[in-house]
Amino acid sequence: MSEDLESLDGIGSSIASKLRAAGYTTIEALAVTPPGEIMEKTNIGFNTILKIQKAARDMISADFKTAKEFYEKRKNMRRCTTGSKRLDEALGGGVETQALTEFIGEYGSGKTQLCLMLSVTAQLPFGEGGLNGNVAFIDTEGTFMPERIYQISSSRGMDPEAVANNILVARAYNSSHQCLLIDRLFTLVPENNIKLVVIDSMISHFRGEYVGRENLAERQQKLNQYLHKLIRLSEAYNIAVVLTNQVQANPTAFFGDPNAPAGGNVMAHACTHRVFLRKGSKNVRVARVIDSPYLPEIPVRFKITEKGIEDVEED
Ligand code: GTP
Ligand code: MG
Repeated sequence: MSEDLESLDGIGSSIASKLRAAGYTTIEALAVTPPGEIMEKTNIGFNTILKIQKAARDMISADFKTAKEFYEKRKNMRRCTTGSKRLDEALGGGVETQALTEFIGEYGSGKTQLCLMLSVTAQLPFGEGGLNGNVAFIDTEGTFMPERIYQISSSRGMDPEAVANNILVARAYNSSHQCLLIDRLFTLVPENNIKLVVIDSMISHFRGEYVGRENLAERQQKLNQYLHKLIRLSEAYNIAVVLTNQVQANPTAFFGDPNAPAGGNVMAHACTHRVFLRKGSKNVRVARVIDSPYLPEIPVRFKITEKGIEDVEED
């Protein structure tokens, strides 16, 4: 993750270039190299190196922590409302910070609509179910709709221009551009009080570019690398990361749903919470949490309206 060096406290561009010139191009390398060795090769002061290394270890959570420290960190976890009480409940109270939440579904199942909705609700104060912060949105499919942001926020009584002003959007044109944008998040997130990162979709470029069995291993490795960067980002800055994913036909499934999430085990293991979406009648959608460590897999319904996402009244 050579691009992230500057994201560490105490590293400006001149220190970063000294480190890179000496071959320390990743935060992991900084965290695990003996400080004396870095000093010899870079001529950076010893105390500065110790500070940089502490920041590097904090960033990758490389040191032992007490269970109490873990508990304190978990206590800082926040939840963002989806606009639907039922869906929030199914998620354990909303979309969590310090975690990756994945929405999986076929076209039109509401993945992008949920991302747009969360981009609005994340800006609400804590007391109203928000994360009291701004949003970074990586759009890989060209389906980010600013008009929809205006519509959702004004119909919820929020100032649409202020809301739209707090969402930083980037269109990713291919998978390497997408990776570059993810690397950028390590500086963008702390500098702009970003509390929600959306990647809609995480997988489409990877699927489109790495075609064929012979490229699968490389694709999965790259995907894994970037998913783990996102995990570190979510933990380091206590932010929510929302990813969307497509379904792919799984002809070997004899029972149950023949459509499996794309991205295989890499995607399955990296995402803390996975939510399957499917179309119901009209604007109604059905969400079901899958593979969760502690959430029940009970399907819930929500609907897509001009206000974004809402509960279905008769529930
Ligand atoms: P893909 O990206 O194609 O895989 O689909 P997706 O899962 O992202 O679907 P998306 O979130 O774009 O859902 C599209 C559906 O949302 C449409 O079929 C509409 O039913 C609904 N929808 C989109 N915009 C609006 C809107 O402004 N108002 C209302 N009421 N519904 C909308
Ligand atoms: Mg979409």
